[in-house]
Amino acid sequence: MSDYLDDGPARTIVRAEGCTKVFGDGHASVTAVADADLTIRGGELLALVGPSGSGKSTLLSMLGALLTPTDGRVRIEDVDVSTLDERRRTELRARRIGFVFQSAGLVPFLTAEENVATVGAFAGLPRAVARTSSRELLEQLGMADRADHLPEALSGGERQRVAIARALLVDPPVLLADEPTAHLDADRGQQVIELIASAVHDGGRAGLVVTHDPRIAAHADRVVHIADGRLDVMVPPAP
Ligand SMILES: Nc1ncnc2c1ncn2[C@@H]1O[C@H](COP(=O)(O)OP(=O)(O)OP(=O)(O)O)[C@@H](O)[C@H]1O
Ligand SMILES: [Mg+2]
Repeated sequence: MSDYLDDGPARTIVRAEGCTKVFGDGHASVTAVADADLTIRGGELLALVGPSGSGKSTLLSMLGALLTPTDGRVRIEDVDVSTLDERRRTELRARRIGFVFQSAGLVPFLTAEENVATVGAFAGLPRAVARTSSRELLEQLGMADRADHLPEALSGGERQRVAIARALLVDPPVLLADEPTAHLDADRGQQVIELIASAVHDGGRAGLVVTHDPRIAAHADRVVHIADGRLDVMVPPAP
């Protein structure tokens, strides 16, 4: 499925060093993430857990080059994101990072397949290739017979599967998900977790899932706890 395993499954793909984010300044400033060190290797799924407001989404946004750290740095495959200008950062996101959020965020007037294929353009994927890959991915995710449906005709779990297909279209080495099962019932949530876990494990990707859901942690190789913006790496769950 992916060639990221070629130079060994233990390759570090994501590295945060002293990553800090302060919003605002003076008395009104909020340190959302303080001095976070974190690495994610290819084929490794991390669960990031912590209370509301503890800095999970902020950290994920910095790891995904959506947000610039106030201090410290993020490296994606040895590229120091802070050295990139806006255009190159956008390019890095489009080509190297797949995002899945709480809401699928599909374009309502495009079919499932079109929603997936459209993001290919941002990564310079030829249209025909994007269409073929979209079909294949939707098929792999059990959505072959829903490919021509509009989002309104899909269930929440099906929409989230389309969002996962979209995140995987360009075969990115990094997959980041922010509470991807928050709006799903237990069964559909479980399916979505398993799809994310296999996309990370089988694809040799570096994966991080923000979650309150203990079942996700069970699929993770490591659980990282965050409280008040500070990371606390916990013992991995028993096999
Ligand atoms: N753009 C912003 N401007 C100012 N403060 C912000 C901004 N984004 C986040 N914060 C603050 O940073 C802290 C961390 O927020 P963050 O969204 O990362 O938390 P979270 O762990 O994802 O919470 P939740 O579980 O509720 O999604 C919070 O105190 C929040 O109010
Ligand atoms: Mg959040």
